[in-house]
Amino acid sequence: MEMTEQRRADGSLRHLLTLEGLSRAELEALLERAQHHVRRLGEPAPRSNALEGVTVANMFTEPSTRTRVSFELAAKRLGAEVVNLEVQLSSRVKGESMLDTIFTLEALHVDVFVLRDAEAGVPAMVAAHVAPHVSVLSAGEAHLSHPTQGLLDALTVLQHKRRCDGLSIAIAGDIRHSRVARSACHAFQTLGVKDLRIVAPEALMPDPGEFNGCTRVTDIAQGIGGCDVVMMLRIQKERFANTTIPAGDDYFREFGLTPARLALAKPDAIVMHPQPMNRGVEIDGAIADGPRSVIRQQVTNGVAVRMAALEILAAPLAARRGR
Ligand code: CP
Repeated sequence: MEMTEQRRADGSLRHLLTLEGLSRAELEALLERAQHHVRRLGEPAPRSNALEGVTVANMFTEPSTRTRVSFELAAKRLGAEVVNLEVQLSSRVKGESMLDTIFTLEALHVDVFVLRDAEAGVPAMVAAHVAPHVSVLSAGEAHLSHPTQGLLDALTVLQHKRRCDGLSIAIAGDIRHSRVARSACHAFQTLGVKDLRIVAPEALMPDPGEFNGCTRVTDIAQGIGGCDVVMMLRIQKERFANTTIPAGDDYFREFGLTPARLALAKPDAIVMHPQPMNRGVEIDGAIADGPRSVIRQQVTNGVAVRMAALEILAAPLAARRGR
């Protein structure tokens, strides 16, 4: 994705399809705005009318809990109207194309599309065809990109470590099929992380030429050693048919995050996971629920990040509508 494809002629962000090409200043502005929307659990959720008069459609053709719900809450808390298209119950199943569905929703005054799709290129294809006032946000594109997940991961690290420069971060598990790993690496590298390790069994390593600037480690203990941040990933069984990769208990024995392995990281290392997680496969459930886990904070940050992204992308539209 060329960075120009998600920008307006004046250089401002119109779509959010990938974190590739975003500058450090742009990421920091998004994260600063997101932090403005963070509230402790138990406090009232943040609310504004920044997107009043704007209509947001969520269209997810792959399953989602966190991303779909948090995009809906984010848009509603900014005062937008929200429609969640149940794709499996829509006329897509009668053969209507993605673009005809998009044009139909545009005709119903949808201004912002939030798209999750298993097929590479769909968000960019939609972005290339929508009307000039419309924005597209990727909520997860194949194995390639999950930009708001990358942002919420970066926000979570900054909240706990105050900086990214100088940190050692290990992302461990099914890197090969992970859009989360790709977007998190873009965010962390842009924010100054130099020691960024991708840790995976050989079969789950990405192809050469991907993840430039990251250190590749196939031994989990070595990969985690001395890290400030350990991010574990689920095996994305839905994206491949390789049956030689160990499953369940075997995978946990060879590659799961156990207390003994976590003890190799720094004493104040935090543990992350984008979820959904498989306890007892890639991570010990006691670690996921333990004091070093920031997994639920990642979820909370998802709403704040999505509010910031919606605000920044739709700002010109909202301004034209008197907001
Ligand atoms: N992390 C994430 O994308 O979760 P969901 O698939 O539930 O949205």
